[in-house]
Amino acid sequence: MSTADTHALDARRHVHGQTDLRRHDADGPTAMVVSGQGVTITTDDGREIIDGFSGLGCASLGYSNRRLADAAHRQLATLPYAPTFYGRSHPTVATLADRLVALAPGGMSRAMFQCSGSEATDSLIKLLWYRNSARGEPERRTLVSRWRGYYGNTVAAVSVSGQPHMHARFGLPLEGFAKTETPNYYLNHRDGESEEEFSARMAADLERVIVENGPDRIAAFFAEPMQSGGGAIKPPEGYWPAMQAVIKRYGIHFHVDEVVCGFGRTGNRWGSETWGLEPDSITSAKALTAGYFPMSALLMKEDFYSDIVRNADEVGVLGHGFTYAGHPVGAAVAMEALDIYDEIDLIGHVRSVSSRFLDGCQALGDHPLVGDVRGVGLFCGIQLVENKATRALFDPARKVGRLVQDCAHDRGLYLRSIDPDRISFMPPLIIDADEIDEAVRRLAGALDDAWKHLGH
Ligand SMILES: Cc1ncc(COP(=O)(O)O)c(C=O)c1O
Repeated sequence: MSTADTHALDARRHVHGQTDLRRHDADGPTAMVVSGQGVTITTDDGREIIDGFSGLGCASLGYSNRRLADAAHRQLATLPYAPTFYGRSHPTVATLADRLVALAPGGMSRAMFQCSGSEATDSLIKLLWYRNSARGEPERRTLVSRWRGYYGNTVAAVSVSGQPHMHARFGLPLEGFAKTETPNYYLNHRDGESEEEFSARMAADLERVIVENGPDRIAAFFAEPMQSGGGAIKPPEGYWPAMQAVIKRYGIHFHVDEVVCGFGRTGNRWGSETWGLEPDSITSAKALTAGYFPMSALLMKEDFYSDIVRNADEVGVLGHGFTYAGHPVGAAVAMEALDIYDEIDLIGHVRSVSSRFLDGCQALGDHPLVGDVRGVGLFCGIQLVENKATRALFDPARKVGRLVQDCAHDRGLYLRSIDPDRISFMPPLIIDADEIDEAVRRLAGALDDAWKHLGH
């Protein structure tokens, strides 16, 4: 089949999520990717593109890692599928559960598996409600999270997420999902307000939400250590200490979503380590299998687990689970990925190239389109603005972020623009210094191209 035919088929038959469907119907796929090697993906027209977004923040080890492919193949040839319902198991998933809880921060002791970050979020929400019933607190159901947070797409996960375009016309969020401010210091600070003062204001807003909703009705506060789907928003100075003080004051369950930050993105194994978070539970996905297999995990502490078990006496079987949870191939790939992370000292590598990456991004701050650059590890958010002096954003209808994303693509760099005109830059964690320089050079060129398109 010709490339033109597959593009036409995709436009006619394939409904894409998180896609402008009108544009897709008219123009077809923005890229038809056929292969990948290292940090580079190749499209069906033979173009080689540096993947500056790690697929969707998951391809930590880049593409065509032979060891991951071999691990999957070995498992497929031995035990390609096994359910984990009814107490059945297989050795690889048992070993992975043990390994994950040992790696996790905050004294986690149990792991439950799913196939995506969304399912992990949903599982936690359901288990929080289930646990609270067992504890005689069935009214403790409200989930508090932040605007612009992103925890997935299922009905509950999107309700706890704070992305207005994912709520509009779906009749969501569900009731009982409350939101506090997003910690975007650059855009939202008041004149003369320091990062610490801003952080204190964010914590005060969290406290307001807790008090307004009733502290004894709050099931959990949900957060990513650094917001990813919100546009790579690095928490400002003093933010997490101030927020955690409020969470502790009201004895609220603190759930940390490590789906993007986990396994090295921020220069530590967990974002929780980077910002000194003390989670009561964790969700993990993406780099758990380096993106080579859909798998996620919910990690919980022993007291949470024991409360869940209390329900067994009255209800019997835990009425929750997924057919492909703990899939043998996913578990084998995750085990291999964890081995590779250790053997190549991936975290050490991220730390060693991080300043090259962040300095390169920071230098883009001189560009007339760029108002702010903030990042950590190999994770950076770049805010585009119309007026650097006033921090005024472009009219959203001009889609300037999308323009930069398209210009970058034309120059051979894949990045993601996220409203309001933020560029999220998070290359595979194996990227080397030369590849970083090249990616930054292409982004600088893309900004110049966009500037010209805007009539300058
Ligand atoms: C922080 C975070 N949590 C959860 C999810 C949902 O994961 P999935 O798309 O695998 O359902 C995402 C997806 O990007 C995410 O970025």
